[in-house]
This record gives sequence, structure tokens and C-alpha cells, in this order.
Amino acid sequence: MENIKIADPYIDDEIVQGVTSVLRSGSLVSGRLVEEFEGRLADYLGVKHVVCVNSGTAALHVAFEALGVKNKKVIVSAFTFAASANTVILAGGQPVFADIDLDTYNVDPASIDGVVDDECVAVEPVHLYGQSAPMDGVISIARRRGLAVVEDAAQAIGSTYGSKMVGSFGLAGCFSTYATKNLHTAEGGFVATQDEGFAERLRLLRNHGQSSRYNHVGIGLNYRMTEIQAAIGLPQLARLEEFIRRRRENARMLNEGLARVDGVITPVEKGWGRHVYHQYTIRVEESKIGPRDRFIERLRRLGVEASVHYPRPVYLQPYYVEKYGYKKGLCPNSERAADTVVSLPVHPLLSQDKIERIVECVKQAAKA
Ligand SMILES: Cc1ncc(COP(=O)(O)O)c(C=O)c1O
Repeated sequence: MENIKIADPYIDDEIVQGVTSVLRSGSLVSGRLVEEFEGRLADYLGVKHVVCVNSGTAALHVAFEALGVKNKKVIVSAFTFAASANTVILAGGQPVFADIDLDTYNVDPASIDGVVDDECVAVEPVHLYGQSAPMDGVISIARRRGLAVVEDAAQAIGSTYGSKMVGSFGLAGCFSTYATKNLHTAEGGFVATQDEGFAERLRLLRNHGQSSRYNHVGIGLNYRMTEIQAAIGLPQLARLEEFIRRRRENARMLNEGLARVDGVITPVEKGWGRHVYHQYTIRVEESKIGPRDRFIERLRRLGVEASVHYPRPVYLQPYYVEKYGYKKGLCPNSERAADTVVSLPVHPLLSQDKIERIVECVKQAAKA
């Protein structure tokens, strides 16, 4: 039987034709399609400016450079992909870590309050797995303490909090369009912002600090998006709402099927917005189903790919332990999550039969 993959990057004939015409056009970088993509993304998110770059990491990096975090601290959710914090360091700042709420895996505002001090200039909520962080709480602390909000929305395009899209709350919303994301351009990313001056700084940073050709008014990088990437992304953006509906429907079926499996904790949706299920992530209780690695290995043998996002809180990564001396115990909920989470396939190309097979395989693998 065919293996059920954890992700299946979307490509259709329209995308193949679009990419082919770009290749034949001779105009490969930063042209009409990237501009169109930026305009459509800005409309979709309800922001004034979108600046496309060539990865989600680049989006975060230019956002922190443009904000100016050098020798300052940025509060980062501890349970996330390392790039959320690495980019603060690349921009000369220091990440400090806030713990998460175990229901949503997103930052707990009380924990932000516990670590904030006068050296902090920004807070970076991460909308992990596609569910919004509790933005009311985050924004109220940010206002009180004068912090900029840089949202890591890498996994969360289309996710909402209240009536607004994530990525449209803070000074900057940073997105990834890496191959497995809900909207992808193979590699890529972008920053959303309402602030014209900030957008201008981002544009300079992504293109060698050039205000016009060979006129370098600043120091920048080469983080430009190609026309090929925009040609992959544009047709998907037109279908994004349909993809999100399918992901949510798959998640609903998984929730229903796994609701009563002993030792499996299904995702919790908060009523504050729309979860877009970039990942469908359960927690497993080793006391009931045995070691997590064995559970994942059993699933693999049954033909279902599963993975762990992420096996350690960022501060327990070797670099952080060595550089800052972090130790276990700093953010207990993040450590608990890192020890117990398992992501299952939820992508929009899965048929109902496959979702049913995933449920049956999880039930089988969970028998200790
Ligand atoms: C939460 C988070 N932040 C940042 C990134 C970095 O994005 P990219 O891989 O496009 O550089 C990712 C990518 O997986 C991510 O999941």
C-alpha cells in the first residue's frame, strides 16, 4: 500500500505552465509576477505592504534588521522552529524565551510578563501549527511595555484572530512559503506591514541597500524572490481558501476518529480565530502508549509518516546551551510539548479513505 506522506507540495498544470513561461521569458528575478504576488498577498491579508523575499528566515531577518534589535532583547516563544530565534541573533539581538500554553502550543502572555525587562524592544509570537497566538494578551503587554510586535506567521497564512488575519497585527508579519507550507513557492517568504517607512527599509535590505541600480544608500543582502517562485505561488493563492477548507475538514475527521484513543491528546482549537492546520499535532502519553519513538516507528511501518515539530525548545539547542548557558526547567510547558508532540498528515491532497487509514493506524500503533 502507498505510504501516506506528511506533506505533499502542491503543483498543477497551471503552475507548470506559469513556470515554463517565466523560464522562456528571460525575465527571471524581481519582475512583474513578484509585484503582482505582493499586491495579491497584501489584499488577502488586509495590509498595505508585502515585501517578498527568498525564505521565511530571510523575512524574519530583514524584519529584525529593519526594526533594529542590535544589543537589545526580543521575547520569543520557546517552542518553535529555531529560525524564530536565530534571526534575532543574526540581527545582533538576544532572544529571551517565554513559555507556551500547552493547549495551543503558543506563547503564554503571563510568561511574557515574567521575562520582559527594559532591554526588550520586541516580542515575537509564533502562530504555531497554523493557530493564532493569543494576540489580545500579546498586544496589551507590548503596548504597556512599548514593545514592537514581530509575528512569526511562517506556518499560518490564512489563520485569523478575531476578524483579522495573523501577520497583520504587528509592525511586521513574517511568512514562509517553503515547499511544505499551506501556500508554497518551493522556497520563499515575505513580510507584511502597514508601515510605509518600514516596508521601504525591508526593500533596501533585500536588495543590497540599493535605492536604484548601483546606488547603495545602505548595506543589504540578496534576499530577492524570483519570478519562478511568484509563478508557483500565484495560482495557489487563488485556491488558498479551498486548501484551508480541506485541511480543516481533514482535521475535523482526525479529531473525530481519534477522540477516544487512550493516550492520544488531539489538538485544541480556541474560539478566537481560524486554525489553518499547517500541522495536525497530537500529544502522546508514554505512560499509556509507550515511548514516542516506538509509536512513530510503528506508524511508519504501517505506512503513515509522522514527525516531531519540535524535539527541543529552542533554548535547549546545543548552540543556545553553549552560548547562553540555558538549562532544562526554564519553560516547563515547552519541554513537555517537545517530549510528547507528534504531527500526522493533514494536507489537502489526502482523500477521506486516507484520513480513515491514518485513524486506524494511530489506533493500532497506540496499543502499548
Ligand atoms: C515557525 C517558523 N519560523 C520560521 C521558519 C523559517 O522559514 P523558512 O524555512 O522558509 O526559512 C519556519 C519554517 O519552517 C517556521 O516553521
